[in-house]
Amino acid sequence: MPMLRHNAAMTIATDHELPVGVFDSGVGGLTVLKAIQDALPRENLVYLGDTARLPYGTKSPVSIERYAMQAAAKLAEQGIKLLVVACNTASAVALESLRAHMAPLPVVGVVEPGAMAAVAASPGGRHLVLATEATVRLGAYTRAVRSRDSAARVTEQACEMMVALAEEGWSDGEIARAIVRRYLEEAGDTAPDTIILGCTHFPLLKDTIREVARDGVQLVDSASTTAAAVSRLLDRHAACRAGQAPGSLRLLATDGAMRFARVGGRFLGQELQQSDIELVDL
Ligand code: DGL
Repeated sequence: MPMLRHNAAMTIATDHELPVGVFDSGVGGLTVLKAIQDALPRENLVYLGDTARLPYGTKSPVSIERYAMQAAAKLAEQGIKLLVVACNTASAVALESLRAHMAPLPVVGVVEPGAMAAVAASPGGRHLVLATEATVRLGAYTRAVRSRDSAARVTEQACEMMVALAEEGWSDGEIARAIVRRYLEEAGDTAPDTIILGCTHFPLLKDTIREVARDGVQLVDSASTTAAAVSRLLDRHAACRAGQAPGSLRLLATDGAMRFARVGGRFLGQELQQSDIELVDL
């Protein structure tokens, strides 16, 4: 495991020009990055998609933790003032270890903000969590929701193929609908009030999930609540970037720059070229 380098420039209070670092196993975390960009347009951002090792969701906790540590270390090497784990799987498995290793750098995960959004959307409600195998295995959302709302009922369904659909850019159409329908059937007739998109890839499939799910179900994800958590932290540490100039964005990936640009551009609402993506080794 690479040593994490900490220096004074990395503490949140000293250099506010440093970017906020964001990582996911692939392009899914761009849904969170976009929400941060919209909420905090003046912040510099650096995003890492560990596309070479995607998916994380089918791997063992030991491997997921190792990958998450390496991704975090790569971003820390660049110099960041805050780390966002824009991956539910890595948040569920490795958030505490990341916090311990990265201290004093603040680390924000996406499971708690997602659970918070679900409880706010439907207090005492029935929630169906769609997530990766690893997130479901750990029951991370059930714990996070029930610690805030003991009356809530939570069912979790692993939907690993939806990660591949999102990465491929096949977020709508017949194939996407059939796969989503199959997973909702597998979950059983839980008549949820909310469907929690417990994987940062799944907001891409929002329209398809809405088409297939029963009427009236609210879809909840952690993107905007995570952006709000980042904003609160920067405020609390008086660490927001000064001035009015728009923030910069760097995009790093561990493989497949062309695919990353093709699919990632759709998330960000801006055309990306292969040359906009820096390939890195972890
Ligand atoms: N986007 C990730 C998540 O939020 C993981 C997808 C994967 O790598 O399996 O869980």
